[in-house]
Amino acid sequence: MDKIVIEGGVPLHGEVTISGAKNAALPILAATLLAPGAYRLHNVPPLADIRTTKRLLAIMGVQFEDGDPLLVDTSNLTGWMAPYELVKTMRAAVLVLGPLVARAHQAIVSLPGGCAIGPRPIDLHLKGLEALGVKINLNQGYVEAKAHRLHGADIHLEIPSVTGTENLLMAATLAQGTTIIRNAAREPEVGDLARFLRAMGAHIEGIDSEVLTIHGVSALTPTEYTIMSDRIEAGTYLAAAAITKGEVIIKNAPVPHLSAVLEKFQAAGVRLTTSDEQITVHSGHTLTGVDVKTLPYPGFPTDMQAQFMALMCLAKGASLITETIFENRFMHVLELRRLGADITVSGNHALVRGRRQLSGAPVMATDLRASASLIIAGLAAQGTTEVHRVYHLDRGYAHLVEKLSQLGARIKRVPA
Ligand code: EPZ
Repeated sequence: MDKIVIEGGVPLHGEVTISGAKNAALPILAATLLAPGAYRLHNVPPLADIRTTKRLLAIMGVQFEDGDPLLVDTSNLTGWMAPYELVKTMRAAVLVLGPLVARAHQAIVSLPGGCAIGPRPIDLHLKGLEALGVKINLNQGYVEAKAHRLHGADIHLEIPSVTGTENLLMAATLAQGTTIIRNAAREPEVGDLARFLRAMGAHIEGIDSEVLTIHGVSALTPTEYTIMSDRIEAGTYLAAAAITKGEVIIKNAPVPHLSAVLEKFQAAGVRLTTSDEQITVHSGHTLTGVDVKTLPYPGFPTDMQAQFMALMCLAKGASLITETIFENRFMHVLELRRLGADITVSGNHALVRGRRQLSGAPVMATDLRASASLIIAGLAAQGTTEVHRVYHLDRGYAHLVEKLSQLGARIKRVPA
């Protein structure tokens, strides 16, 4: 296992280019199961979760040729099982469920179980698939799904689940008749999947809205597609530039998808100029504490909560951070406290009292975005910060150490 060692206190300067969105690439890779043939996918980020998904699809007979574009060939599907060993390392593997029952009329997918940030059930996925005519049986920790021809349904999602919406959207494209998904997730990555499906010949209305209407077709066809940029990666570098009071240009940033995030950074005193695909963070600001509440899109994203909390640790005044999406997404608090942060947690609220400085220490990553918040805090802390269990970071950040080094950070990755 590696660790990342940072000598903090260096203002970041220069340009960083954002990679493809992990949470768009994952469902789009799963969607290639819907139609046999060869696909060309551009801007697929080189992440651990992408490699895990490719391994999972390869078990089912899918073939790949690495590069940009990534070539995917789903002509010979030989299996429809997502094993526990794999699903337990990446919940998003449940995204094969919808495409498999639509294409192969069956699937055996391990229940994902919980993870560091919460129980993460998939009851809404299963309820929606049953409405589409899928027979669901839970057996020894596996979902056994069978379906003849799926039929359209009018589905209301109790919670606007992102992967729940994506599973149902993918299954509905090949169902007989019309499906309506109400209270659908509106995250941009859901829209990217919908546009990919439309490029494959799916008939989808209401893309990016909370009501998706899908008119099933008898077959889809492989296509070529470019994955959107990762708004959470962009927000993460924004926090790194702001906390070090640097001057950074963030290129390939999906600015229209970041309005709730940019609004909060500006309210906290960060000086920004933006164009459609670029954010410039200007130095010389004084950070002040602002309250933030995570919400489904277009609200402030839960995937930016930990990174923003790190920034608030050095703001003047207090910041009340409320996490409304996951039950246990404050694992980074205990580690930020080791760096000298003053944070009090009560239920799903974290009260951050800004300090004048943080001081470096060894800390441990617990989940993907928590690890990012520790890196961000370490970049500003006086002295040396060591972040352990960095495999969490590899899941969602491509070339993080290289990108930060290019911005002048004193950071390196070494064996722990
Ligand atoms: C997606 O997870 C993202 N993952 C997460 O990103 C992100 O944090 C989350 O959406 C919220 O935006 C991918 O897209 C691969 P949900 P997902 O279903 O779909 C409850 C990252 O850092 N729920 O929208 O699993 C659930 O427990 C990751 O990149 C049910 O109760 O999240 C949670 O409290 C972390 N039943 C809430 O809904 C269900 O059937 C939102 O979950 C489904 C969800």
